[in-house]
Amino acid sequence: MPLAAPQIGLPIGILAELTHRCPLRCPYCSNPLELERREAELDTATWKRVFTEAAGLGILHVHLSGGEPTARVDLVELTAHCAAEGLYTNLITSGIGRAGVMIGPLAEAGLDHVQLSLQGASAENADRIGGYKGGHAAKLAFARQVTDLGLPLTVNAVIHRGNIHEVEDMIALAVALGARRLEVAHTQYYGWAYANRAALMPARADVDRSVALVEEARRRLEGVLVIDMVIPDYYARFPKPCSGGWGRRTLNVTPTGRVLPCHAAESIPGLEFWSVRAHALGDIWRASPAFNAFRGTDWMREPCRSCERREMDFGGCRCQAMALAGDAAATDPACSKSPFHARVEALATAEAAATAPGYVYRTIGGASALPQGGRT
Ligand code: SF4
Ligand code: FES
Repeated sequence: MPLAAPQIGLPIGILAELTHRCPLRCPYCSNPLELERREAELDTATWKRVFTEAAGLGILHVHLSGGEPTARVDLVELTAHCAAEGLYTNLITSGIGRAGVMIGPLAEAGLDHVQLSLQGASAENADRIGGYKGGHAAKLAFARQVTDLGLPLTVNAVIHRGNIHEVEDMIALAVALGARRLEVAHTQYYGWAYANRAALMPARADVDRSVALVEEARRRLEGVLVIDMVIPDYYARFPKPCSGGWGRRTLNVTPTGRVLPCHAAESIPGLEFWSVRAHALGDIWRASPAFNAFRGTDWMREPCRSCERREMDFGGCRCQAMALAGDAAATDPACSKSPFHARVEALATAEAAATAPGYVYRTIGGASALPQGGRT
């Protein structure tokens, strides 16, 4: 059997969600509401096999993620294995917990890059959002360790109503920390973020201001800091090509080994996911029903089917279509051509104008505390 049929390209990246354990409790987390427990996680040998298979598939980048990946005591061993397989490793970390003691050994093991999350620019606000006192100070110390080791640092700042007033300060902080790249990522509403949407949704005027600030900073900081920006879907005109298109570029492996085309794919009912416990990664990429469900453009209906942008954004995000239109094969309601778009924009405007409810903090086993019933 050839490695890939003509219409199935080869993946370039793999997001390894090594664990859902995390000391932080961010209400904007995109992890599923039902978080996996430690006992169910893949063991070291299985992760190593997965990384070997990933390299064999031609994958270039491994994102070591979670939860907090440094909660895995075998992270140094896994990183060394990835390096030996020729994979470029990116540690996606909160910088808290064991991150500080692990970063030296990780660098020695061949870690290539660190992506550090910041919840805000001020300690008080960041610790409130992350639900962890002292977290911000620990992150700043961790960032210094990273740059002292000579590792490239990217700062990831998820933006929402609770910190959008700090965008300017976060840009300045990223520069002060010696980051080479900053991601100003407006919240994507999946998992815990979807449950907290009313608390997180910013007003359009604040979004517009943040975009202007980033554009000005990009000009001012050229050659110093690269700033990526993720625009909030609910106020967008066109959707993003989620995950680079379903089953086109990347795969996600959950802590227990299920392989998903995107991090929220399990929110789509009826999809069949294969596990690395039972299948080789290449077989999953080529033949797993979930990966083939929305590959290419044949599954599209109007207005996507005849749209000139269908090979640019691939109809947007399937998980958002499921959440907001009740149909994973519908046009992403972030698109202005979707019949649901006006309703979604109005909903965002109304939520942003209302008094923000308190956060539902992310916790393992905490999904049962969420309000019951569906919501658009
Ligand atoms: Fe993209 Fe579909 Fe909207 Fe066209 S109609 S811009 S393909 S989501
Ligand atoms: Fe699943 Fe966008 S998060 S397709």
